[in-house]
Parts: sequence; structure tokens; C-alpha cells
Amino acid sequence: MRRYLRVLILCLACGFCSLLYAISQLAVSLEEGAAGGGGKPQAAVASWLAASGRGAERGAGPASGAGLLDRCKDFTLCYWNPYWMLPSDVCGMNCFWEAAFRYNLKIQPIEKMHLAVVACGERLEETMTMLKSALIFSIKPLQFHIFAEDQLHDSFKARLDSWSFLQTFNYTIYPITFPSENAAEWKKLFKPCASQRLFLPSILKEVDSLLYVDTDILFLRPVDDIWSLLKKFNSTQIAAMAPEHEEPRIGWYNRFARHPYYGKTGVNSGVMLMNMTRMRKKYFKNDMTTVRLQWGDILMPLLKKYKLNITWGDQDLLNIMFFHNPESLFVFPCQWNYRPDHCIYGSNCREAEEEGIFILHGNRGVYHDDKQPAFRAVYEALRNVNLQVKSLEAGLLY
Ligand SMILES: *[C@@H]1O[C@H](CO)[C@@H](O)[C@H](O)[C@H]1NC(C)=O
Ligand SMILES: *[C@@H]1O[C@H](CO)[C@@H](O)[C@H](O)[C@H]1NC(C)=O
Ligand SMILES: *[C@@H]1O[C@H](CO)[C@@H](O)[C@H](O)[C@H]1NC(C)=O
Ligand SMILES: *[C@@H]1O[C@H](CO)[C@@H](O)[C@H](O)[C@H]1NC(C)=O
Repeated sequence: MRRYLRVLILCLACGFCSLLYAISQLAVSLEEGAAGGGGKPQAAVASWLAASGRGAERGAGPASGAGLLDRCKDFTLCYWNPYWMLPSDVCGMNCFWEAAFRYNLKIQPIEKMHLAVVACGERLEETMTMLKSALIFSIKPLQFHIFAEDQLHDSFKARLDSWSFLQTFNYTIYPITFPSENAAEWKKLFKPCASQRLFLPSILKEVDSLLYVDTDILFLRPVDDIWSLLKKFNSTQIAAMAPEHEEPRIGWYNRFARHPYYGKTGVNSGVMLMNMTRMRKKYFKNDMTTVRLQWGDILMPLLKKYKLNITWGDQDLLNIMFFHNPESLFVFPCQWNYRPDHCIYGSNCREAEEEGIFILHGNRGVYHDDKQPAFRAVYEALRNVNLQVKSLEAGLLY
């Protein structure tokens, strides 16, 4: 009799567990139907997955090739095999976390932040330091788009590949290119590197939004922070930049420019956030024809009209463009593009005094001479961070 009772209790326990399982599956499938989930938790999940992947890679030793790693990350096997029956080259830890977050991940894939830079001449070291500062502080994964002269490609590739263990970024290196119709003309009229960035919306057709920075930029905050400003654009805004100057008495455009410029003192293009989907769609007002022109069609006539009057190349063309279309520009405060101009003749960036500098812009070559020791010190500190050490923390400590 007692034996039957035990069997009965066992059966009841099993039944109860099955019921719990069924309920949890039902809950999950209901949840799947409903949209939801903010960006933040997913970012955390991403870093968890990346971290466990990294651990697995180390465990497999240096011999593990790309193929093995792929199978390690192959979640399709997780679906059909219980955790304890996985083939030995599939990383169980990944499956475990993937299963735990499967429904969450399906709802919203992790958004990548796209960062573009144009590097020519002697700018390799400076560019690598900029990319390093972006990697050190950022949370979401980064996609780098590096436009460089051909002789720099191998060095960029070698240096970036030595960081590939980080798994929080991916990169593509492009040659300096122009739209084929007018390529020769652009090359002749302008220093090739100076005008490259104007064509990014036509070259990177698959990319929705992009942060463009000069090589002499250093991130002192996560790229995520400036990236989040994209969501603050109103319906007419397509790009964001900081003012060229805070103090009109020492501004450049308002005293010297021989062409129209945005606002009171113009804008600086060293840090430019773009929603390229909108840039490609928009028809721009202009002072050349009465019809509105698209981004790709406006650049050449603009250059032809103003080439004798512009001093700072692409930045001047952008100023002319947004002079005629002011409703399309989101202006962010000077702390997102902090330059020597903000402290040479007394401090004039109030936001930076109150909240700190978010992005440093060492123009006028101040990272490499002794005119602004503070700029140079920040640059050298970041340049000396060693990412080859197989752990970011160790790289910062030693
Ligand atoms: C990295 O970028 C290349 C193109 O440059 C792309 O083919 C590849 O899928 C990307 N990898 C990841 C993990 O996003
Ligand atoms: C260029 O500058 C000159 C001299 O200031 C001015 O007269 C001329 O109108 C400018 N050209 C354009 C296209 O604005
Ligand atoms: C850019 O603009 C397009 C069209 O308005 C929009 O669908 C997209 O979400 C925007 N991108 C970002 C990152 O806000
Ligand atoms: C968006 O903001 C800009 C600049 O603040 C403004 O000029 C424009 O009218 C705004 N657009 C809309 C649709 O509110």
C-alpha cells in the first residue's frame, strides 16, 4: 500500500512539473507576440553572449579556426539537442544563455553603431587612437567604416586584426572614391580626402545612420551617448553638428567667410551625426536653381559656384547647405566637439564647464605640439593604452 502511495506521489510531482513547463511555454509564446523590451537589457545580453563566446574561444586554444568558432556560435543545434547532448564543438554555455534569452533577442536584433572616418597622409596613429577611444568606452557593438589612401590599408588591417579578440566591433576599409560621373572633376577641384565624407550617403547605401568624425577626435564617453541623439531628431532633422564658435567676437565665419553659413557662427563638421536614410530622401532648397535638389545632385553645382570663396572645404559646403535648410540641422552643444578654440582665449563652452567634455577635438595639431598640454596629455594617455593584451582591463592597468 505504501509503495502505491509513493508511486502516486511521484506521478503527481511529475504531472505538476509538466504543468509548470506547459504554462511557462504558453507565457513565452504570448510574450513573443507582444512587442517590447528596451535597448538597454539587450545590450547587456549582447555583452554576456560576447563574453561567454570569448571564454570559449580561449578554452579552445589558439588552434581554433574561424570554422570552429562559427560552429561554437551555431545556435540552430541548440534547438534540437538537450543541453547535455550537444556535440563537443558546440559551446554549451552559449546555448544555455541563448535559450534563456532566445525570445528576447528575436524581438529586437542588437543595433550596431556605425562610425566613419577618412584617413590620409600621416594620420594612421591618430586614427587608431580615435578608434581605440571609441572601443574602450562604448557599450553597443560598433561597425567602423574606414576610408583611407591605398598605402595605409595594410597597416590599418594589421592593427585592427590584432584587436579582433574584442568581438565588440567589425570594420571595413574602403579606398578613397568618388561618384563615377564626376570623379576626375572632384579630384582636381579639391583635396581628395577633404571631400570624401560628403559622398558617404551615396557610398554606404545600406547604412541607415552614421557618426562621422575627423581623425583628431577622442571619445571620452560611450559612443552610445551621442548615438542616442539620433532618436531626438524631430521629423525634419537629418544631421547634427556643434556650432563652430560660441563667442561671435572671435568666430571665424562671422568675421571672414565669403559665403553663407549656418546660424550666428557657422557649424563645425568634425563630429557629424547623420541619418543617411533621410539625407538620401530629402530635396534641398538651394540658391542655384528654383527646384529642390537631392544630396547627390547638389554637391557639384555647389562646389562650382563657391569653389573660389571657400576656405575649409567640405565644412564650408555643409554650412552653405544648412544655411538654406536650417530646419534640417540638429545643433548639439559644444561639449560634444570640444576644441582648443573653447579655451584659448578664455573658457567659452559653458556646458563643458558644468557637465564635462564628452568628445575632444584636437584640431590645429594640438595633440602633436606643446601649445595645449592638456589636449596632448589626453591623446598620449589613450594612445598608450595597449589593446593587444587579451583583456581590456589589463590593457588599462598596465
Ligand atoms: C563584418 O563586416 C563584413 C563586411 O565588412 C560583413 O560581411 C560581416 O558580416 C560583418 N560581420 C559581423 C559579425 O557583423
Ligand atoms: C565670393 O566672394 C566675393 C568677394 O567677397 C563676392 O563678391 C562674391 O559674391 C562671392 N561669391 C559667391 C558665389 O558668393
Ligand atoms: C532615420 O530616419 C528614418 C526615416 O525617417 C527612420 O526610419 C530611422 O529609424 C532613423 N534612424 C534612426 C537611427 O533614428
Ligand atoms: C525641428 O527642429 C528645427 C530646429 O530646432 C526647427 O527649425 C524645425 O522647425 C523643427 N521641425 C519640426 C517639424 O518641428
